[in-house]
Amino acid sequence: MFSSPYSLLLLATLFLALTLCPSNAQLSATFYSSTCPNASSIVRNVVQQALQSDSRIGASLIRLHFHDCFVNGCDASILLDVGGNITLSEKNAAPNNNSARGFDVVDNIKTSLENSCPGVVSCADILALAAEASVSLSGGPTWNVLLGRRDGLTANQGGANTSIPSPFEGLANITAKFSAVGLDTNDLVALSGAHTFGRAQCRFFSNRLFNFSGTGSPDPTLNSTYLATLQQACPQSGNGNSLNNLDPSSPDTFDNNYFSNLVNNRGLLQSDQELFSTNGSATVSTVNNFSNNQTAFFQAFAQSMINMGNISPLTGSQGEIRSDCKKLNGS
Ligand code: HEM
Ligand SMILES: *[C@@H]1O[C@H](CO)[C@@H](O)[C@H](O)[C@H]1NC(C)=O
Ligand SMILES: *[C@@H]1O[C@H](CO)[C@@H](O)[C@H](O)[C@H]1NC(C)=O
Ligand SMILES: *[C@@H]1O[C@H](CO)[C@@H](O)[C@H](O)[C@H]1NC(C)=O
Ligand SMILES: *[C@@H]1O[C@H](CO)[C@@H](O)[C@H](O)[C@H]1NC(C)=O
Ligand SMILES: *[C@@H]1O[C@H](CO)[C@@H](O)[C@H](O)[C@H]1NC(C)=O
Ligand SMILES: *[C@@H]1O[C@H](CO)[C@@H](O)[C@H](O)[C@H]1NC(C)=O
Ligand SMILES: *[C@@H]1O[C@H](CO)[C@@H](O)[C@H](O)[C@H]1NC(C)=O
Ligand SMILES: *[C@@H]1O[C@H](CO)[C@@H](O)[C@H](O)[C@H]1NC(C)=O
Ligand SMILES: *[C@@H]1O[C@H](CO)[C@@H](O)[C@H](O)[C@H]1NC(C)=O
Ligand SMILES: *[C@@H]1O[C@H](CO)[C@@H](O)[C@H](O)[C@H]1NC(C)=O
Repeated sequence: MFSSPYSLLLLATLFLALTLCPSNAQLSATFYSSTCPNASSIVRNVVQQALQSDSRIGASLIRLHFHDCFVNGCDASILLDVGGNITLSEKNAAPNNNSARGFDVVDNIKTSLENSCPGVVSCADILALAAEASVSLSGGPTWNVLLGRRDGLTANQGGANTSIPSPFEGLANITAKFSAVGLDTNDLVALSGAHTFGRAQCRFFSNRLFNFSGTGSPDPTLNSTYLATLQQACPQSGNGNSLNNLDPSSPDTFDNNYFSNLVNNRGLLQSDQELFSTNGSATVSTVNNFSNNQTAFFQAFAQSMINMGNISPLTGSQGEIRSDCKKLNGS
């Protein structure tokens, strides 16, 4: 039957459909093994360089991947500047404006990759690789980053405003936002552990320090010695942009101290402390587990990063491989 020209045509069509159809394409750890075998070490080298002059940059880079993936999936939409067809950027959305950083390092990574393998590695994959490099270079776990994402053609500022969790939200709302992108409460607790490094501005938690929810008193779940420190660092009439370590016990190290902090009522953001201080929540035992067992945290964190990196990627012939992460090709 294979000799009939009609069957051959059918077979060829089937072959093309299976190889080109992006609908059920999967990300793969070996996606660039023939087209850019050194992609991961190129990314790692640039991140390592950047860390030498900015110990915070690893934290800033992993946060970009998170804020990318929660809006239109992991498609590098957060990297697009206003211009051409992009009228409202995600960069200027409420959770990112004057907060998200590291865009210049992403551009340096892109330049380095374009020098070795022009037109091959997507900006969305750069964010996933930079996140892993940032964590492992800071003492955290390593994992095989799944690759093959392509870059989106749109930005969604309204989506960024509403889909990215706010530090002022209750645990139920945050859980719902994770659930909306297919992540469960284990992912929520594990990924919140990224607050083991990096900084937060006073304006994201000062509501807890003096008059919490109109009670006239500070947030009762805040450790009183830590409260006093934070009241000094963020006085009522002070600058809301002042920076504070998310994990004062080891500010630039990726470890499980974030969870020990929560157990001691030393979570910096309301959204952090809620994981431990919400009575009856399933998150409490997970926090206890991770605070007692760094291996358990690292194992869960690596798996949850893979889960987050799998949020609605563009694959196959969808989207494009941007040559400049800040703008669409041809704009
Ligand atoms: C669970 C809900 C989350 C909320 C409400 C939240 C909120 C925040 C806020 C308000 C800041 C401070 C930003 C600033 O001061 O400019 C911050 C920083 C940070 N977030 Fe989250 N976050 C969440 C989850 C995550 C996740 C899932 C990750 C990564 C896996 C992450 C990684 C980081 C890092 C590393 C920083 C420090 C960034 C830097 O120093 O530049 N966060 N987050
Ligand atoms: C890959 O990167 C490593 C380390 O940076 C370097 O030693 C090696 O020569 C590179 N290989 C290729 C094929 O570029
Ligand atoms: C972003 O921040 C700048 C100040 O740096 C402000 O002028 C602008 O209005 C903000 N954008 C949005 C969308 O809030
Ligand atoms: C996103 O939030 C910012 C700040 O609140 C606001 O200025 C902007 O109009 C919002 N964008 C959209 C598309 O809703
Ligand atoms: C939580 O979600 C509900 C329903 O979407 C919303 O009305 C409420 O304002 C949210 N709470 C906070 C603190 O954002
Ligand atoms: C706390 O905030 C509430 C509501 O905003 C206000 O009515 C009250 O006067 C404030 N209390 C103090 C002690 O500032
Ligand atoms: C407050 O923090 C200190 C230092 O970590 C700790 O010893 C103490 O138990 C904490 N208090 C509470 C109520 O968690
Ligand atoms: C949780 O329960 C403890 C002990 O029963 C209580 O002291 C605390 O106020 C409760 N916390 C919250 C946030 O309701
Ligand atoms: C810590 O977690 C790891 C990984 O889940 C597990 O294999 C190990 O038994 C745990 N250690 C203890 C002391 O519970
Ligand atoms: C602790 O977390 C690890 C990793 O997620 C998990 O395998 C283990 O079952 C957990 N242990 C407990 C006691 O919850
Ligand atoms: C901008 O949008 C127009 C109209 O949808 C489209 O034809 C054009 O290709 C877009 N430009 C870029 C650079 O994507």
